Amino acid sequence: TDSIPITIGDLTELQILYFYSNQISGPIPSELGNLKNLTELELSHNQLTGSIPITLGDLTELQILYLYSNKLSGPIPSELGNLKNLTKLNLLDNQLTGSIPKTLGDLTELQILCLRSNKLSGPIPSELGNLKNLTVLELSLNQLSGHLPDQLCQSGKLENFTVNSNKLTGPIPISLRKCSSFKRVRFDNNSFTGNLSEAFGIYPKLQFIDLSDNDFHGELSSNWGKCKNLTNLKVARNNISGSIPPEIGNIKGLLGLDLSSNHLIGQIPKEIGDITSLVKSGDYVHLFQLNLSNNKFGQKIPMEIGRITQLNILDLSHNHLVGGIPPYLSNLKSLVSLNLSHNGLSGRIPEELEKLTGLQYVVLSYNELEGPIPNNKAFINASLEGNKGLCGNVRGLQPCERPSSVVKKQSVAKRRKLILITVLPVMGELVLLCAFIGVLFMCDKRKKVRDVERRDDGWISISMLDGKALYRDILNATEEFDAKFCIGKGGHGSVYKVNIPSLGNIAVKRLHSSSENAHPKCFMNEVRVLIGIKHRNIVNLYGYCSNAKNSLLVYEYVERGSLSSILSNEVESKKLDWLKRVNIIKGVAFALSYMHQDCSPPIVHRDISSSNVLLDLEYEARVSDFELAYTMKVTQMCDVYSFGVLALEIIKGKHLGEYITMLANLSTRDHVQLSDLLDERLPYPEDRVKEVLCFIIKLASSCLLETPKSRPIMQFISNRLSSMNPHPPTHVRRAI
Ligand SMILES: *[C@@H]1O[C@H](CO)[C@@H](O)[C@H](O)[C@H]1NC(C)=O
Ligand SMILES: *[C@@H]1O[C@H](CO)[C@@H](O)[C@H](O)[C@H]1NC(C)=O
Ligand SMILES: *[C@@H]1O[C@H](CO)[C@@H](O)[C@H](O)[C@H]1NC(C)=O
Ligand SMILES: *[C@@H]1O[C@H](CO)[C@@H](O)[C@H](O)[C@H]1NC(C)=O
Ligand SMILES: *[C@@H]1O[C@H](CO)[C@@H](O)[C@H](O)[C@H]1NC(C)=O
Ligand SMILES: *[C@@H]1O[C@H](CO)[C@@H](O)[C@H](O)[C@H]1NC(C)=O
Ligand SMILES: *[C@@H]1O[C@H](CO)[C@@H](O)[C@H](O)[C@H]1NC(C)=O
Ligand SMILES: *[C@@H]1O[C@H](CO)[C@@H](O)[C@H](O)[C@H]1NC(C)=O
Ligand SMILES: *[C@@H]1O[C@H](CO)[C@@H](O)[C@H](O)[C@H]1NC(C)=O
Ligand SMILES: *[C@@H]1O[C@H](CO)[C@@H](O)[C@H](O)[C@H]1NC(C)=O
Ligand SMILES: *[C@@H]1O[C@H](CO)[C@@H](O)[C@H](O)[C@H]1NC(C)=O
Ligand SMILES: *[C@@H]1O[C@H](CO)[C@@H](O)[C@H](O)[C@H]1NC(C)=O
Repeated sequence: TDSIPITIGDLTELQILYFYSNQISGPIPSELGNLKNLTELELSHNQLTGSIPITLGDLTELQILYLYSNKLSGPIPSELGNLKNLTKLNLLDNQLTGSIPKTLGDLTELQILCLRSNKLSGPIPSELGNLKNLTVLELSLNQLSGHLPDQLCQSGKLENFTVNSNKLTGPIPISLRKCSSFKRVRFDNNSFTGNLSEAFGIYPKLQFIDLSDNDFHGELSSNWGKCKNLTNLKVARNNISGSIPPEIGNIKGLLGLDLSSNHLIGQIPKEIGDITSLVKSGDYVHLFQLNLSNNKFGQKIPMEIGRITQLNILDLSHNHLVGGIPPYLSNLKSLVSLNLSHNGLSGRIPEELEKLTGLQYVVLSYNELEGPIPNNKAFINASLEGNKGLCGNVRGLQPCERPSSVVKKQSVAKRRKLILITVLPVMGELVLLCAFIGVLFMCDKRKKVRDVERRDDGWISISMLDGKALYRDILNATEEFDAKFCIGKGGHGSVYKVNIPSLGNIAVKRLHSSSENAHPKCFMNEVRVLIGIKHRNIVNLYGYCSNAKNSLLVYEYVERGSLSSILSNEVESKKLDWLKRVNIIKGVAFALSYMHQDCSPPIVHRDISSSNVLLDLEYEARVSDFELAYTMKVTQMCDVYSFGVLALEIIKGKHLGEYITMLANLSTRDHVQLSDLLDERLPYPEDRVKEVLCFIIKLASSCLLETPKSRPIMQFISNRLSSMNPHPPTHVRRAI
């Protein structure tokens, strides 16, 4: 500690003075200049202040002068140029100001000159080119300006040359472009200009070069492929254009390639996969990264990237990449960070990515990706927004099985009771019988309507949500009901598909007449009942809101649209095979049975048809558009009749027409051939399925009977259908 005693200056025979790595403060005494026989003076890593004494220029025998990592200020004395025997001069990490003295060019024996991390300004003196033995010249992190002198590589020995983070300008001189001794070069963070295509020759020994954050233009030369020992090539944030030369693949040991933020185009060359990084792990950890972000790379991500198995960081964001994410990326076992955001990537995220156990940062936002996300913990915190339709159980995504209705599914599951009946010894025989019975929902266990608002200004809202906010969001999202959001028109109003960030897609029916008068009190009561209903085969009604301008019913959006549109579509109708159709018929029956029998008072649909049976992603029927019959005088039996017609329509693929009357009439029913009643677009059903279809046709025919009283009630139909073999009813299967 404390300062260097002046009396040290009396040790005139001293040859070596090592005070490094202490806590010595105060100035360097000028008396040290008396130590004429000194060959090594090392005062580095202390707290020395003040300036470098001019008298040090008298230490002509000095070979090593280390003053680095102190708090020295003031200029570098030009007198140091007298130290003709000096081989190593290191002043880095001080607060030296002024310019680099030209006299340093007289230190002809100098091998290492390190002035990094000071506050030196002015130009780099061309005299440094006289230093014939110089191998390391570090001038980075100063405020040096002007052009690089032409002579620096004259010796042919300069290996490490760093001038990064200065204010240097102009092009790189030809002599430096061809400096074949270069091993480690940093030009980054200056204002160098010039054509990079011409700028650089072949550096056979080059290991590290950083040209980032300059104003280079031109293209990447194929010559880079000849730098066989290169481990890092960085040309980020310049103005280079053209494409990546395939020769890049010749640089087998590359550990870092950063070409981000340029104007590069074309395909990422598949040869990039040849960079298989043979570099053995040294005594420090390399981060192997590939950053091609913020360019204009197009076409697909080459699957060959998957061969760079040691890659830690892959950033291809902000390009014009299209196609899918190659499943081969799952070979990148060391990958920690993956950023493919802001491209046009589509399709699913390969589930193979779940193999990447080291992955921590995933950014896939703003692409056109869809489908489930891989089962990988990194996806929990991943940025995935702005895609087409990703799903999964993470923040901000819809769950996969049934987007937009997960809440429903969970609560349905909760309400179902699983009953295990065990019948023990019966008549001497041990019979063990297990039955799973899905108990249907009780209409009285309803959702809580969160918000019933009624205001003097005519505003009414009945909703599970914040009605007012929802109304505002809907107006905003539909641009006040612009026609481009309209997906259908019905007797009572137009339906709009609306995307609200907090809810996802919803369907909004804008009723023709607004104002409360058009929707009397009993209407309101029914809305309240319908909002309360939760059934897997009934479309969720989220809310109703009304003011002087609009009356809106807000529904869950059901993905596949109406059954009628699917049946009338050649391709889609073929996807609707016999089993799916049977399941849809059951679904409709369950929904109606629930409304008729389990709700009090009963709710009648009045208009069951294929256009208001919607199908979700799993082809499960979702009955919509309960007509809010103001009175209950309409008998439930009209729903039963409509159900019969609908069931037959589903099996035939279109409305049955004249066969309806034939089936309705017991005497003519037997004249109808089964094949007349089946959709010809589907293959003829195998026996097991045929049996089920015949059963449904019979049941449906009984719904058509002329006298309403002779028709079965929906509960009966629903029970018969759910007990129907060979398939256990799907809702029971789910509950299990
Ligand atoms: C120290 O330097 C003087 C001349 O400056 C010389 O005569 C003397 O021999 C040197 N001593 C040693 C130990 O080198
Ligand atoms: C420098 O070193 C050489 C040989 O190492 C020696 O002959 C010479 O005296 C030293 N001093 C100066 C000032 O050249
Ligand atoms: C400096 O270079 C010259 C010639 O290039 C050589 O003779 C001399 O030995 C070198 N000095 C050192 C200290 O390497
Ligand atoms: C760039 O250089 C300036 C000084 O010229 C420095 O302040 C800044 O931190 C440097 N930036 C980087 C990224 O190194
Ligand atoms: C010179 O650069 C090489 C290659 O990057 C490096 O291994 C070496 O440590 C550097 N030497 C000095 C003195 O900075
Ligand atoms: C850059 O240099 C290359 C090779 O000499 C040349 O073909 C190209 O035209 C130059 N580009 C510009 C913009 O000067
Ligand atoms: C490349 O690196 C290897 C291993 O470090 C070394 O043996 C070889 O001499 C280097 N090649 C060149 C041209 O410097
Ligand atoms: C970058 O290069 C383009 C041409 O490729 C040129 O139009 C533009 O001015 C350049 N920008 C800068 C900042 O040099
Ligand atoms: C890639 O480069 C861009 C721009 O140069 C930078 O913003 C980004 O952080 C880099 N990516 C990684 C993973 O470091
Ligand atoms: C890409 O994402 C990574 C990980 O979050 C991040 O470090 C990097 O900066 C991002 N790249 C760009 C260009 O923003
Ligand atoms: C997700 O981010 C949170 C907060 O940054 C962090 O605590 C948590 O560990 C992260 N989870 C994973 C799986 O990385
Ligand atoms: C309307 O929507 C736009 C874009 O979707 C959003 O930026 C804006 O904040 C919304 N306005 C209101 C009042 O919600």
